[in-house]
Amino acid sequence: MKLFSRKKDTLIGVDISATAIKLIELNKKKSGYVLQSFANVPLPRDAIVENTVIDSIAVSQALLDAIEESGTAMKNVSLAVSGNALIIKIIQVPVTSEFDLEAQISFEADQHVPFDIEDVYSDFQILGANEDDPEMMDVVLVACRREVVDDYQLVLSEAGLAATCVDCAVFAIENAAEELGFLDVDSLEMDAAEAMDGEEAGGSASALVNIGANIININILREGQMTFVRDQFYGGQNLTELIQKNHAVSFSAAEEMKKHSFSEIDPNILEEFYSNLSAEINRSLDFYSANNAEYPVQTILISGGCALIPDMDVELYQRLGIETKIFNPFAKIEVPEHLFDAESLFKIGPMMVVPIGLAMRSFDQ
Ligand SMILES: Nc1ncnc2c1ncn2[C@@H]1O[C@H](COP(=O)(O)OP(=O)(O)OP(=O)(O)O)[C@@H](O)[C@H]1O
Ligand SMILES: [Mg+2]
Repeated sequence: MKLFSRKKDTLIGVDISATAIKLIELNKKKSGYVLQSFANVPLPRDAIVENTVIDSIAVSQALLDAIEESGTAMKNVSLAVSGNALIIKIIQVPVTSEFDLEAQISFEADQHVPFDIEDVYSDFQILGANEDDPEMMDVVLVACRREVVDDYQLVLSEAGLAATCVDCAVFAIENAAEELGFLDVDSLEMDAAEAMDGEEAGGSASALVNIGANIININILREGQMTFVRDQFYGGQNLTELIQKNHAVSFSAAEEMKKHSFSEIDPNILEEFYSNLSAEINRSLDFYSANNAEYPVQTILISGGCALIPDMDVELYQRLGIETKIFNPFAKIEVPEHLFDAESLFKIGPMMVVPIGLAMRSFDQ
C-alpha cells in the first residue's frame, strides 16, 4: 500500500491517538469548509502506546462508538501516523521527473531509513527546487513501519472502515493550517515586519507545534515551505504524571484537575512542565536555526490538547521569546448550530487539528 494514496470518495479523518479516537467529516463549499460529522471518543489508558495498538478490542469498540456518535455513513478513512514508527526526511536529489524518482525511491529510502526496507511502507513528495543548488530538488521522504499501518488497518476493518489514505500527523496539521489560511504568507510577513520593530526584515518562518499527550509534532515552514519536521516525546501526560505525584492523586483525578480545576495545581509543577516543554520545543528551533539563520521563526502556532491549557500561548511566548498563537480550526470552519454544539466544539478546536487536516484529503486534487 502507498502512503498518501487517495480515492475520489469522501474520506473521514480519523485520528487514532494516545487518548482518543477523533473523527471528522467535512464538506467543502464555495464559502469554505463546513463540518459534517464529529466524534471524540476517549480511549482507555494504554490501549495505544507509542502509536502501537496494544488493546485492539478497545480500539475497535471506540471506533464503532465514534461512528455511531458522528452518524457518518462514510467508510473510507484518512488516518495519520506519527512518532517512532515514522521517519520523515527532507532529502536532496538531482532534478528528475516524478516518474523517474518513483523508480529510484526505494534506493533513496534504503539510504536514509534506519529500518529494514522490507519492513516499511515508503513514499515521497517533491517539494520543489533546492534554493542553493538549482541542479537539485528537495524531496520529502516518508517511511513508516508496516506493522504500525497494518495494525491500524486491522482495527479499522474490524469496525467496518477502510484506510484509503495514510498521512503523517505533521502533514495533516500543515494541510489544515494552509487550507484554513493560518499560514497566510502576507499576514506572516506583516507580523514579522512588525515584530522586527523597524529592523531590516529578512525572510520569515513559522512553526506549527501540536502538543498532544505524549508527542509534540513540529513542522517549521520557511516562507511557507516545509523545511524541518520532527516528532518529539513530551506532552500533556507528563503534566498529568507530575500532578499525580505531587498532589498524591490518581491519574484520572489528575486529568480531571487539569481540565476542571486548573487553578488548584501547584504553580511549581506548572513551572516544571512549561520549562521542560519549552526546552523540548527549543531543541527543534535550535536545530532549525543552525541551518536557516537568515529565516528566523517569527510565529509559533500551537495546537493539540495542551493548547487548551489556560494561557499556554503566553507561557510559551515568555519562555521562547517568539510570538505564539493558538491554532483553532473552528475559527475558520462553519459549524452548523442545528447539528452541533458549536461553543463546546470551539473550546476543543485546537485538539481537532489532526483529524481536520486528514478529512481535508477528500478535496485534494
Ligand atoms: N482542557 C484541557 N486542559 C488541559 N489539558 C488538556 C485539556 N484537554 C486535554 N488536555 C490534555 O491534552 C492531552 C491530549 O491532547 P491530544 O488529544 O492532542 O493528544 P493525543 O493526540 O491523544 O496524543 P498524542 O498525539 O501524543 O498521541 C492530554 O494530556 C490531556 O490531558
Ligand atoms: Mg495527537
